[in-house]
Amino acid sequence: MNPLNGKTAVVTGAAQGIGAAVAHKLAVQGASVIIADVQADAARERASKLAAATGAKVTVEQLDVTDSQAVSRLAETSEPVDILINNAGIATNAATFDMTDEAWQRTLDINLTGTFLMCREFGKTMRGRSGAIVNVSSIAGFKATRPEVHVGYDATKAAIIGLTRTLAAEWASEEIRVNAVAPGYANTDILKSVGAESPETLEQWKAQVPQGRLMEPAEIAEVVAFLAAPSSSAVTGHVLVADGGYTAW
Ligand SMILES: NC(=O)c1ccc[n+]([C@@H]2O[C@H](COP(=O)([O-])OP(=O)(O)OC[C@H]3O[C@@H](n4cnc5c(N)ncnc54)[C@H](O)[C@@H]3O)[C@@H](O)[C@H]2O)c1
Repeated sequence: MNPLNGKTAVVTGAAQGIGAAVAHKLAVQGASVIIADVQADAARERASKLAAATGAKVTVEQLDVTDSQAVSRLAETSEPVDILINNAGIATNAATFDMTDEAWQRTLDINLTGTFLMCREFGKTMRGRSGAIVNVSSIAGFKATRPEVHVGYDATKAAIIGLTRTLAAEWASEEIRVNAVAPGYANTDILKSVGAESPETLEQWKAQVPQGRLMEPAEIAEVVAFLAAPSSSAVTGHVLVADGGYTAW
């Protein structure tokens, strides 16, 4: 039997990349999926492909996760959600002396405040219903990555780990599990914003990974799906690292 039959999942930032792979995996496992992304056209295209490929019910919500009222409205009006995947995120590559107030604030707003708002509003709807939340952190939440420099990104990804642990402890009595996944370098568009166009940078990244390669979005989706599924019922407040061994070195 599909482990997520009868469940409804919201995945933010699922128009592409890791979020799209997560939406696919959850749909294959039987969930109805709500793709919530700021890119409306790309999200609609993704949803129709996903529905055609899996037969799952897939709906689209154009959502900016930084918009508190829109997040609240979605939580109140959507069908009851059992699984929330906070995946939407951006990276801003800039030496710290050159980082503008705007770039810093935008990174915090999307990566951290967006995650907080989604947790708070959907958490309210999950109380007492065995909810599962998975927040997407990063290896950058554990250590400064190189050669790229993105202090705002690192700060938000570390903060997501703190937020995850606090909510896991606070909401265990509400039957809501809250976990995080920390992917290593994964083959998606976000890497273009931190130097992937440079073959030297790509090689440097791979050389820092014991497995010698980038992760694939589908591999990250596997661990997200584990934390979202009832089979991980004892797991909460955990950060599951999926990085090909990067943080082991
Ligand atoms: N790819 C990697 O190497 C890597 C590594 C570690 C962590 N991550 C994290 O994985 C998550 C997904 O990133 P990705 O690699 O798939 O990148 P991506 O750029 O391909 O996808 C990001 C998605 O987030 C959406 N998004 C951006 N701002 C938004 C907003 N305000 N509201 C709603 N949606 C918004 C985008 O439209 C896009 O669909 C991010 O949180 C990222 O930090 C990625």
